[in-house]
Amino acid sequence: MQHLLATTDFSREDLQQLFDRATQLAESGASGTELAGRTVTTAFFEDSTRTRLSFELAAQRLGAHMVSFTAATSSMNKGESLRDTVQTLDAMGSDVIVIRHRSVGAPKLITKWVQAHVVNGGDGPHDHPTQGLLNAFTVYQHRGLDLNGFRLGIVGDVHNSRVSRPDIAIFQMLGAKVTLIGPPALMPNPEAFPDCDFSNDFDDVLPKLDAVHMLRIRREWGSDANIPSMSDFISRYSLTEERANKLPPDALIMHAGPVNRGIEMGAAVVDSDRSTIREQVRNGVLTRMALLEKLVQSDS
Ligand code: CP
Repeated sequence: MQHLLATTDFSREDLQQLFDRATQLAESGASGTELAGRTVTTAFFEDSTRTRLSFELAAQRLGAHMVSFTAATSSMNKGESLRDTVQTLDAMGSDVIVIRHRSVGAPKLITKWVQAHVVNGGDGPHDHPTQGLLNAFTVYQHRGLDLNGFRLGIVGDVHNSRVSRPDIAIFQMLGAKVTLIGPPALMPNPEAFPDCDFSNDFDDVLPKLDAVHMLRIRREWGSDANIPSMSDFISRYSLTEERANKLPPDALIMHAGPVNRGIEMGAAVVDSDRSTIREQVRNGVLTRMALLEKLVQSDS
C-alpha cells in the first residue's frame, strides 16, 4: 500500500491482515521497533484530538521519529502555500505524512508533491479511512469479520459527517446492512448509497439494530442551520437512556468522538458500559500502528 487516501483503498484481505496485526499488538503490549529510523509526520490543517494523537502515539510505540506540524502556528501565517509547506515536511525526511484538511481531496493532491506515503486523516466531509478502520476493528472484536446479517444504524448528521462514508464502505464490504437515520435535511442523496436503507424515524428502527453509530452535528459546517431546531433534533434523534433501553440488549453503542453530550447522546449513555467510545479510541492507536507498519513495509 503506497498511500491511504480513501476507505475504498482497503480490500477485505487488507482488513483481515490489519485486524490480525492490531490484535497481535494488543496482546503483546502495543510496542515494537518496526518503524525504527523512520519519520512519521502529522500535518493537521484542522483541529483534532484523537486522530492526531493516536497517530503520534502509534509512531512512537513503533520506534519512529515523530514530527508534529500545526498549521495554526506555522509559517503558513507568513504566506507559505500548502504545496511549499508539505514539500518542506517531505524534504525533512518524512516517510509518512498524515494529513487532515478541510478541503475534499487535499491528501490526494499532496501525493503529487511529496515522496512520502500519504494518509488521509480526514478531508472535509468526504472521508476518514482510519476512522472506518478502527470502527470496524471495534465491531470485529465483538462479532468477528463476517458481518452478514449484522444491522448497523448510522444516526444524525449523515450528510456532513466524514465518519458516515467510511462506515458505509467498510461495513458493507464485511456484509453488514446499513441504515442511515436522521432528519431529511441531514441525509445524503439516496442515489449515492443505493445499498443502504434510509429512515427519518429512529424510534421505529432502533429495536432492530445490532449497533448504532451516533454522529456529531457538524456545526462548523452549518448543519445546525439546516434543521428546524436543536431541541427538535434532540427529541427525535438523540440516543437518550430511554432509547438505548429499546435497543437489543447486546447492541453496540458507538461514537467516533468528539461527543456533544446531551445532543446526539445523553451523558449517561456516553458513560454506560454499552458504549464503545473508549474502546474505539484505544483501537485507534492499535489500528494506526498496524497501518503505519503496512505502509513502510511496501518500501521493501
Ligand atoms: N474522531 C476523530 O476524528 O476525532 P478527532 O477530530 O479528535 O481527531
